[in-house]
Amino acid sequence: MHIYILTLFPQMFQSPLSAGIFKRAIDQKLVSVNIHNIRDYTHDKHHTVDDYAYGGGAGMILKPEPIFEAVESIKSSISLNQGGSMLPIILLTPQGRLFSQQIAYELSKYSHLILICGRYEGVDERVHRHLVTDEISIGDYVLSGGELAAMVVVDAVARLLPGVLGSEASLLDNSHVSGLLEYPQYTRPAVYRGWSVPEVLLSGNHAQIANWRREQAIQRTLERRPELLDKANLGLEEKRLVGRLKKSNLSREFVE
Ligand code: 6GU
Repeated sequence: MHIYILTLFPQMFQSPLSAGIFKRAIDQKLVSVNIHNIRDYTHDKHHTVDDYAYGGGAGMILKPEPIFEAVESIKSSISLNQGGSMLPIILLTPQGRLFSQQIAYELSKYSHLILICGRYEGVDERVHRHLVTDEISIGDYVLSGGELAAMVVVDAVARLLPGVLGSEASLLDNSHVSGLLEYPQYTRPAVYRGWSVPEVLLSGNHAQIANWRREQAIQRTLERRPELLDKANLGLEEKRLVGRLKKSNLSREFVE
């Protein structure tokens, strides 16, 4: 996968891309990340990327021309195979649709992605209307720019690409892939400061362990993110378990 990032702050991307699974994925050519400075696509002496808002207001607005030209320049350098394949042009903005594992999975299917990092108090509306194909936000809080959000998206997408993670199995086991939060994990020692690892995990009984983990994942999701349970695809037995847990939680609240 080839990822192109348009930003006013290319330096911000240096360290996140130079460590861990990213570095390995880039070294192995499983993914390439190309950072483009929006300022390089200006033509005036001062390399102006922003200007006052028409109609007034405090903030500076990112001008459309350098962003359009940067995207067009990148587009013309890409030869999309099969002609028909779509090239997502994604603006990172608090007004975008809320990023999720599902969206990460969808984006991981493309051969190329263009990510545009918004900045300041906004981006000229013509970029929203006539250039981008998608707008993404990573949560309901305000960041000073789209850069950190772009890194979040790149991380979540890159780890889904074939070969990027050491073991493909760890992909499936994780929180949010099953639609549930992750079950509790333990490693050695079996007793630490008097706190023991649950007996079942030491039993060697794989069926019992799988059962316990599924139960714990459901219990934890019910406690912390109950809204996720509606979307998780649970089997009949698991739905019954949710029912039982809800009931016993209710009776506990009643006592307390
Ligand atoms: Cl994509 N941009 C900014 N500036 N703030 C955000 C965001 C994006 N997602 C959540 N907050």
